Amino acid sequence: MSQPYDDVATRIRALVEGETDEIALMATVACELFHGDERHDWVGFYRVTEPGLLKIGPYQGGHGCLVIPFERGVCGAAARERRSRVVPDVDAFPGHIACSSKTRSEVVVPVLDAEDRLIAVLDIDSDRPAAFDEQDAAALEALMAEVFGRR
Ligand code: SME
Repeated sequence: MSQPYDDVATRIRALVEGETDEIALMATVACELFHGDERHDWVGFYRVTEPGLLKIGPYQGGHGCLVIPFERGVCGAAARERRSRVVPDVDAFPGHIACSSKTRSEVVVPVLDAEDRLIAVLDIDSDRPAAFDEQDAAALEALMAEVFGRR
């Protein structure tokens, strides 16, 4: 049975073959995920640039806020707890940071390097309610592990 993100993962795998630069990888992943799935209205990375702080990285879509402390929003929660968050209704998530009023639901996945350090979170927003489920999060986690966790 096909898994979520199978096709886009195949394309990303081919594109990033041999590349180790984190920004080059993030830019490529953001581009492919944004254009490869109609649910996606905004796709991007927030990078851990100092302890407890996320800063905007490569993304596609409208402008994203530049800085997110770990205490704030869905991205902050995912970073703080180092676990994915699926949010079916952003208005019901306390402290959600609204970068776009169109966003109805989102999924955020932690990005770990080969030494298990948190380097970023992947944030995907949708203008559709309940666009993502746990299977999507699991598939995105596997993709992040493959792209950023390899040696
Ligand atoms: N949705 C995020 C904020 C980032 S923007 O949506 C691009 C959050 O609440 O963490």
